[in-house]
Amino acid sequence: MEEEKKQPFLQVKNVTKRFGSVEALRGVDLTVYTGEILAIVGDNGAGKTTLIKTLSGVLRPDSGEIMIEGKIYKELNPRLALDLGISTVYQDLSLVNCRDIATNIFLGREPVRHKFFVDKRRMVVEAQEFLQQLDMDIPEIHAEVGQLSGGQRQGVAVARAIRFGGKLLIFDEPTAAMGVQESAAVLSLIRQLGQKGYAVILISHNMYEVFELAQHISVMRQGKVVSTVSTSDVTPSDVVALITGAGEIPN
Ligand SMILES: Nc1ncnc2c1ncn2[C@@H]1O[C@H](COP(=O)(O)OP(=O)(O)O)[C@@H](O)[C@H]1O
Ligand SMILES: [Mg+2]
Repeated sequence: MEEEKKQPFLQVKNVTKRFGSVEALRGVDLTVYTGEILAIVGDNGAGKTTLIKTLSGVLRPDSGEIMIEGKIYKELNPRLALDLGISTVYQDLSLVNCRDIATNIFLGREPVRHKFFVDKRRMVVEAQEFLQQLDMDIPEIHAEVGQLSGGQRQGVAVARAIRFGGKLLIFDEPTAAMGVQESAAVLSLIRQLGQKGYAVILISHNMYEVFELAQHISVMRQGKVVSTVSTSDVTPSDVVALITGAGEIPN
């Protein structure tokens, strides 16, 4: 019942992308719902990063359509994608380590006072609010980002994405370089984003992570989404079989 009420935030239709003789995307279809976490899985080279880059406007598709909140686009650019609420949390997080948390959250779009002066006090108050919303445990708001743990840095990057109007948050292997505890913090952060009504795409090789978080899983193989399944209908070994092409799920 609830499923039917959910609106697609983004729909990809028949998107292709070629690099010379390599067909990286061969007619991709994908739907991402508001308030839902979609996992994208697939072997190395399946086209996951290329797909994400077309959604964030870094790459232009050769053909196909991207529909965002009902409006059709042939291609995006980074600025337009951000304006439409698509925000990618990159692995390097694009944070400035030697600056404090608030500065990082507001980087490039600082609130100003009397037209010229950066309103630092407001930045700190708002930064604290954003982190609280995300249930982030940041002991010292004035700390430099370089002193934070990997999970906390991820939280700062997410707060920044949300502050910039992010509605769809894309994570490309967010816990790949993290230990167990750090990963757990990041996973709970991503879970909350879904519960708070954001649309989330999670690219991951980790089946545990995928089954913990995602409502749907889109499996990519050789530049195509070969299957989209509900997490509740399949087992991790079903998904591994879909990734390798060893088996298809009946209907
Ligand atoms: N900039 C590029 N130039 C040439 N080939 C590329 C480029 N980016 C990706 N590819 C190729 O496109 C295919 C899909 O790559 P990618 O999207 O990175 O896959 P994944 O993220 O699933 O591992 C691969 O064959 C890869 O070698
Ligand atoms: Mg990749």
